[in-house]
Amino acid sequence: MKRIFSGVQPTGNLHLGNYLGAIRNFVALQHDYDSIYCVVDLHAITVWQDPAELAAHTRQVTAAYLAAGVDPERCIIFNQSRVTAHSELAWIFNCVARIGWLNRMTQFKEKAGKHKENASAGLYVYPALMAADILAYKATHVPVGEDQKQHLEFARNVAQKFNHDYGREVFPVPDPIIMGSAARVMSLRDGTKKMSKSEPSDMTRINMTDDADTIANKLKRATTDTGTLPGPDVLDESGELPETARKERPECYNLLSIYAALADLSWREVLTQFEGQGFAAFKGALTELAVEKLGPIGSEMQRLTNDPAEIDRILKRGGERAAEIANPVLNEAMDAVGFLRG
Ligand code: TYM
Repeated sequence: MKRIFSGVQPTGNLHLGNYLGAIRNFVALQHDYDSIYCVVDLHAITVWQDPAELAAHTRQVTAAYLAAGVDPERCIIFNQSRVTAHSELAWIFNCVARIGWLNRMTQFKEKAGKHKENASAGLYVYPALMAADILAYKATHVPVGEDQKQHLEFARNVAQKFNHDYGREVFPVPDPIIMGSAARVMSLRDGTKKMSKSEPSDMTRINMTDDADTIANKLKRATTDTGTLPGPDVLDESGELPETARKERPECYNLLSIYAALADLSWREVLTQFEGQGFAAFKGALTELAVEKLGPIGSEMQRLTNDPAEIDRILKRGGERAAEIANPVLNEAMDAVGFLRG
């Protein structure tokens, strides 16, 4: 059986990177996989969250899943803290994972920054909880943006070490699914930095709830260079954009990759369409496309969040369905470890 698990943190400012790198792919994949989509509130509190905002953001991420087209009947949608198996399995994985593995995690280094001593212990063991999320469902596939690749590698190592140490094949080794030209959407102001929820300036990102004027304004002011748009001759033989080209003009290729992803075009198609044009015309076309694609999702999110009772009902039902899958897996793991049960 092929099963997907993925999650998004309810930390506010859901943006185009979350949509193109993850949520949009959840929608596409739900037809081919048994799919579980989580709002990872336990992960969110690894950095301080105001309690009232955390609740609102949990509903907002749920609304984004639904508005983008995730079907709550076909898929399981729930918030992580409802299913206690995540925390319990994470503890076992804290004892399976090695400190050396955690020390290599670039996301911890980025998030903790210069104040490592002051970061929460939860932020440090974040990847073990993420491994528990995935493995509690024996998920085989995990759709994520490129920035989560290292955490996925960590989860694979945890699965393998657990199975090896306890001499039982309890967990499958999950594969990442990293899709399309926008698996790494960059900041609108600096094409070498990832578009991020935590960037202080809102001008660096397009939020899923931005209205048409805001999108137009942000794209108009997005950083570009002085050249015209390149043609398809920059691509390699397999039609991919070489890293060297991207490094030379990071802002230009970031905007083009956003266009390609939103329009469902290949690199070749998008480069052929805009070859030789200036940024002003291209930004106009990109604005129109972004408004066309994001506008309906943003207004549907708005409508859904106006009815929190319906969202809460979906999360509750999703939590019950999720627990039915995760609890037996947790039991199997505890049994392998040698915990006395029952
Ligand atoms: P989070 O909330 O930071 O991001 C949610 C998803 O959005 C993707 N993403 C991006 N994709 C492309 N370009 C960007 N600029 C960009 N920014 C974010 C992320 O790759 C992610 O897929 N650790 C995860 C949450 C998580 C999880 C899990 C994911 C917890 N448990 C289990 C998969 C499976 C995270 O930080 O998400």
